[in-house]
Amino acid sequence: MRVLVTGGAGFLGSHLAERLVAGGHHVTCLDDLSSGHRENIDHLVHTAPYLADSGRFAFLECDIVEPLPDCGPFDRVFHLASPVARHVERPIATLRAGAEGTRRVLDLAAECGAVFLLASTSEVYGDPDVHPQVETYAGHVNPVGPRSSYNEAKRFAEALTVAYARRRGVSVRIARIFNTYGPRMRPDDGRVVSTFITRALAGRPLPVFGTGEQTRSFCYASDMVEALVCLAESDCDRPVNLGSPEEVRILDLAREIIDLTGSASGMEFAPLPEDDPVRRRPNIDLARRVLGWEPTVSRREGLQRTIEYYREEEPLE
Ligand SMILES: NC(=O)c1ccc[n+]([C@@H]2O[C@H](COP(=O)([O-])OP(=O)(O)OC[C@H]3O[C@@H](n4cnc5c(N)ncnc54)[C@H](O)[C@@H]3O)[C@@H](O)[C@H]2O)c1
Repeated sequence: MRVLVTGGAGFLGSHLAERLVAGGHHVTCLDDLSSGHRENIDHLVHTAPYLADSGRFAFLECDIVEPLPDCGPFDRVFHLASPVARHVERPIATLRAGAEGTRRVLDLAAECGAVFLLASTSEVYGDPDVHPQVETYAGHVNPVGPRSSYNEAKRFAEALTVAYARRRGVSVRIARIFNTYGPRMRPDDGRVVSTFITRALAGRPLPVFGTGEQTRSFCYASDMVEALVCLAESDCDRPVNLGSPEEVRILDLAREIIDLTGSASGMEFAPLPEDDPVRRRPNIDLARRVLGWEPTVSRREGLQRTIEYYREEEPLE
């Protein structure tokens, strides 16, 4: 199949592109490199120039908010491009990517008759008062808080995706992705796993917000990529939670990473950021039922592989 991955030079997008190329598909990655890196996908670039039939992988540098280059047709479109980790510093770019960018990518999918998969997020649930989160829960989001640009951009992107399905007959999938980690996360992007590992390896204290009692559920990248591929190939047009149902306190995650790295680091406590969710865990019954999917890589194993990556590679800033 001919597959487009927007955000394909990023952390998850590059793992997905790798998986799709290995599966025999022709893959085009489109990315503005605002947080992605060419180095994440360089190994996939054959010498063939873009649109030449001989290559199974192509990269296009472009911003999805601007008119898209003529790059179709595609059978599948995985839409992952969005500011993520540093979205608080780029609220307008984040909202524009979710709204204008998603519209452009949906138009492209509609023109080609491609299946369109939106990489949405658990952040659509905000600071949830239903736990664990089920897909039917409408969320508890502060529309004007510091995290609102990302949460609302993704909520709008979901609404737009559903509107294209209803009004233009696009075949859509909506993946509500919970915290995912693994090699190629940028060390400076403020995500908890990359921050804890790089601090522990440097022998510096791990920053824990609040008391560290807040929980998250962490899914390893290869499991998430399988889930995205399964979802695209399913006929499920409802939002589906994808993530690990195993919940861990941030305090315990810090201890685990100190233990696995053999670090002498301690922890330093800082005030909880505004609107930081207290608990986060997906109910993945729907994914189990309609995709036959659940995570297979344990947290210990996934953390070990990620630590290995940070030890061996010079992580990209
Ligand atoms: N990793 C997670 O824990 C997680 C959780 C929930 C949802 N998601 C979603 O998965 C997707 C991928 O996230 P990631 O963790 O790989 O982050 P990432 O920052 O590594 O990837 C996002 C990619 O999108 C690109 N991008 C941003 N704005 C763009 C624009 N306007 N035009 C073109 N490209 C643009 C970036 O350069 C980057 O390569 C995102 O949509 C994110 O919201 C990820």
